[in-house]
Amino acid sequence: MFSTLIRLADEDDLPELPAIEASAGGAFAGVAGLEAVATDAGLDAAAFQRAFETGDVWVAQALEDPLFGELVAFAVTRRVGRDIHLAEMSTCREVQGRGIGRALLAAILESALEEGCTGATLTTFKDVPWNGPFYAAMGFRELAADELPAHLRDALAAEAARGILPMDRRCAMRLGLG
Ligand SMILES: CC(C)(COP(=O)(O)OP(=O)(O)OC[C@H]1O[C@@H](n2cnc3c(N)ncnc32)[C@H](O)[C@@H]1OP(=O)(O)O)[C@@H](O)C(=O)NCCC(=O)NCCS
Repeated sequence: MFSTLIRLADEDDLPELPAIEASAGGAFAGVAGLEAVATDAGLDAAAFQRAFETGDVWVAQALEDPLFGELVAFAVTRRVGRDIHLAEMSTCREVQGRGIGRALLAAILESALEEGCTGATLTTFKDVPWNGPFYAAMGFRELAADELPAHLRDALAAEAARGILPMDRRCAMRLGLG
């Protein structure tokens, strides 16, 4: 377990996030058929600024050497009705698999529950261990096509339109809260 302080981002944190996202994507370099995801450009600075203004950006700040004080993970969420939507989550490659993502997601879900949210949603890869199976372990359930709310249909359609993701491996998931 790698110890971090999990908090809402300050505007000053935003310039650090594209590098974390780029590092995180390296996890896909070794996944057959998803190599292109590893080098995908991801969100730019303007997109992070919009996310900060229209939703919440969470960060995990290292409390251990040699990274003490540095941001090592982030997540972007936004409210959709009474659900919280997890638009993105990334942990720096060098500290992945050490419990930071789980702690970050747990903090987001706890906050959503406190704010009266009734659920949490996301889209992800079904078959990548740190995607679908991780979220399933956190209680998320894959939604069938006829269960998708409009924002998840839109999210999957936007992913398909980008053309680099194998959509047969994507899914939408939801966790009921409360
Ligand atoms: C998804 C991500 C943010 C999770 O963050 P993390 O700090 O690695 O998360 P954790 O260490 O808490 O691991 C969560 C679970 O993912 C799985 N996992 C993480 N790294 C893994 C690896 N290298 N191989 C296999 N499983 C792995 C494990 O099931 C783990 O749970 P466990 O330790 O209880 O078994 C991170 O892996 C990442 O940035 N990946 C690339 C970007 C991405 O996939 N983002 C999510 C888009 S939906």
